[in-house]
Amino acid sequence: MADDSGTDRRAGRPVLVAVAWPYASGSRHLGHLAGAYLPADIYARHQRLVGNRVLMVSGSDVHGTPITVRADAEGVTPRDIADRYHAEFVADWDRLGISWDLYTSTGTENHAAVTHDLFLRLLENGHIDRRTSDQYYDAEAGRFLPDRYIEGTCPHCHYAEARGDQCEDCGRTLDPEELVDPRSKITGGTPEVRQTEHFYLRLSDFSEALGAWLDGRQGWRRHVLNFSKGWVEDGLHDRAITRDLDWGVDVPVDDLGPGKRIYVWFEAVIGYLSASKEWAQVQGDPEAWRDWWEGDEARSVYFIGKDNIPFHTIIWPGMLLGYGGLNLPTDVPANQYVTFKGGKASASRGVGLTIGEGLDLFQADALRYALAASLPEQSDTDLSIDEIARRINEELVATWGNLVNRVLSMVYSTCGGVVPAVGGRTADDLAVLATVDGALDVVTDLIERVELRAALRTGMDAAATVNAYLNATEPWKLARSDPERAQAVLGTALAAVAGVRVALSPYLPFSTMALDDELGPVDAWQRREPVPGSPIGKPAPLFAKVDVAELLAGDDG
Ligand code: MF3
Ligand code: ZN
Repeated sequence: MADDSGTDRRAGRPVLVAVAWPYASGSRHLGHLAGAYLPADIYARHQRLVGNRVLMVSGSDVHGTPITVRADAEGVTPRDIADRYHAEFVADWDRLGISWDLYTSTGTENHAAVTHDLFLRLLENGHIDRRTSDQYYDAEAGRFLPDRYIEGTCPHCHYAEARGDQCEDCGRTLDPEELVDPRSKITGGTPEVRQTEHFYLRLSDFSEALGAWLDGRQGWRRHVLNFSKGWVEDGLHDRAITRDLDWGVDVPVDDLGPGKRIYVWFEAVIGYLSASKEWAQVQGDPEAWRDWWEGDEARSVYFIGKDNIPFHTIIWPGMLLGYGGLNLPTDVPANQYVTFKGGKASASRGVGLTIGEGLDLFQADALRYALAASLPEQSDTDLSIDEIARRINEELVATWGNLVNRVLSMVYSTCGGVVPAVGGRTADDLAVLATVDGALDVVTDLIERVELRAALRTGMDAAATVNAYLNATEPWKLARSDPERAQAVLGTALAAVAGVRVALSPYLPFSTMALDDELGPVDAWQRREPVPGSPIGKPAPLFAKVDVAELLAGDDG
């Protein structure tokens, strides 16, 4: 893993962990967490421990009609909405332990400057031009109706509440003029059509290059690759990248006159680059971002939900090709959806739990565990409060929580409250440690392929192996019959627990840290032998069992 370029004294390969920018237009729910933020954090934590140089960035997407529609509805300013939800997201990440290198927003001056740079270079290179088109206009409100200001019936699935930019039901991206029976979101009236002038990204310029690039991708999820190739094969259309709005990044050339802003989807994807530059500035090394964006050594992995696929596998790569000199995504392991059902609390709200509500009900690590065990990596998954509770009680507590508690309690009571010295190890002792070491290797392979569910399963299976080792060796009996052997078994079990803890640490950061005093901090992807003689205090359980009935009784939502 060492960097052999000779130009860089720091160890490890640069890995950009690029995470979807959440719209600051409303609370994010557990589906968003499982879709992008949690997998990104697990991946980033593992990559740091294997010695790679991770740059994990994202921020709040504060522009676009999701924000302005919400502001209109509440009679407040778009900035009020963006500030409110940005603050909420920052608090959520903190409670969840999401380990950002930088979490910023698209509302910064830096982001506007980087967006302008991209726009002007693409314009200079001939990949942006100006066109006049027909667009919906609300005569009563006296304004154009971009994106979510227009609603109507989806031409594909006939869902009646489709929005001008996307159908929430079938997930397809739309242009407003495709909607059947369009209605103004502002007045409810039938819009008229008027001419307006906008800048367009000539995405069709990149059809061939993007097709060839996608053909060369290896190890990508099949659904991501199929969807993306299908998009290119259907023919790439040039796309308007400005809007008739007064909220957004301004257009860096004044040809169009006032009342125009850059389209949110053109600038939000630029956030990955602008956030990398902002991070470098904060480091006091303004050019440092280049390590993650230039050269063959750098990797970039984009964590998103499936509704964002074309923006990350086609449009952003096209923009990068047109700009020149910057790396395209190495992988875009987009997740499918988590559907949330069942449970009184969710039913009464009509939708799934928000992240904050999830954290009010469950310990952060317990919630992280339950979501990670059901990540929608290959297909949509169903979640419910009952299923989360079942995963916590029957898997996390029963297997890992009990193992840690059992081993620490026995060491505490039979080894005089210190890590025992292990004289000699039997074949059985060595076998359990080899299983744990093997699991660490398998987990690395799986996480590198972003198979995070399977990697978690592997870590939990290793924990089960240690439980089986204890059941077979029965150190509680040996404590009386053969105290020396009891010490060896408990010392071995403790060493095995230390290894399983490393394997689970990307998933369970808080409970990993809770064992720092006993086992030392996890600062590398390897099992470290606990140091004989180090004190082991009377253990407190890592996780509490949850009682759904009690949880919901205490929740008057
Ligand atoms: N704001 C978008 C959403 O919540 C995601 C944007 S990801 C981006 O769906 F980085 F590309 F902007
Ligand atoms: Zn649809």
